[in-house]
Amino acid sequence: MRLENISWEEFSHLDPEAKAPFLQQQGRPFHVLIAQQFDRHQLDSIGSLATQIRFIAKTRPGMDFLRDLLCGKRAMLYFTQPSTRTFLSFCAACQILGLGIGEVRDTATSSEFKGESQEDSVRTFSSFFDLIIMRTKEPGLAERMAWVLSTSERPVPIINAGSGRDQHPTQALLDIYTLQRSFERVGGIDGKTVVFVGDLARGRTVRSLALLLTKYHDVKQCFVAPAPFQIGRDILAVLEKTGVEYELSEDFEGMLTKADAVYMTRVQDEWDAHAGESARVDVSRYAFTVAHLRLLKEHAIIMHPFPRRHEISPEVDRDPRAVYWRQMRNGMWVRTALIVTIFGLDSQVREYYARHLQPGSCL
Ligand code: NCD
Repeated sequence: MRLENISWEEFSHLDPEAKAPFLQQQGRPFHVLIAQQFDRHQLDSIGSLATQIRFIAKTRPGMDFLRDLLCGKRAMLYFTQPSTRTFLSFCAACQILGLGIGEVRDTATSSEFKGESQEDSVRTFSSFFDLIIMRTKEPGLAERMAWVLSTSERPVPIINAGSGRDQHPTQALLDIYTLQRSFERVGGIDGKTVVFVGDLARGRTVRSLALLLTKYHDVKQCFVAPAPFQIGRDILAVLEKTGVEYELSEDFEGMLTKADAVYMTRVQDEWDAHAGESARVDVSRYAFTVAHLRLLKEHAIIMHPFPRRHEISPEVDRDPRAVYWRQMRNGMWVRTALIVTIFGLDSQVREYYARHLQPGSCL
């Protein structure tokens, strides 16, 4: 199933699960647009590849090997919404793989300012670059662009690095990788309880991760937020359809005792319809302080997609269960693994790892 063989009208109305095959080529992700496009096998594979890359990059010959993989190719980072971590970790991932980088971070500096459509801008990028990574405030724009490019002479892959309030699939991938690594010795992600806290109504990272967690067995999802910030009905409908157990609550402290992972988020007030709207919602009860650490299980972890404001006090950072800084660095390795996979170079990486780094191999 190929994108160029379906009309936009038809494609845009498909269920996310039905869209997935259109985003793959030769059994691997080509465009990365929505969290639901990944299955469990791909999640495991991207995670193990990220780990192998992490180890390969520890040696000079390993770094040289990685840098040769995509040397001569170029990636365009089209980020018209603010970003620090996602932008920089994609830059770092590209640099690890030898990809050259171009960027537009503000349409005031591009021809969109002169009235060019986003379609024409993205098509222009595809003339010069081999991969487009985009973050925009419009939900679904990355999907639309992938479809537009599919009928052009250079249908390069598109990665959605955050589409409005809707999705942030690569953040969900790095969150999954963080969960995989953290629960390695306690039976993996299956059967765990993940507690989401904060502005769940408008947090795209929460939405994408909640969707990806449905790919695991018996993961309970708890959503802790004041009513105006509670998770959307559309996500709950997916959880219901897939038989996922979930709970909505305003009892932050009570939920902490049940959590295997606590996923804290900030108030997303940039989406306020009226200035000051969010400020009227009291979120003071939903902040993690050192006093809360004693409520957490020994193996539980605290996550945050960042940027943080007041929802986790910095003193918490010293607790080994606070994994958010590691989570952030995981983003670089997962994004590197993802790009390697998109370009079909994963078996080369795995062979290098087996030859040089597996126990018993000659280094
Ligand atoms: C998140 C985002 O942009 O959605 N940041 C990120 O990419 N790590 C979360 C946020 O901005 O709150």
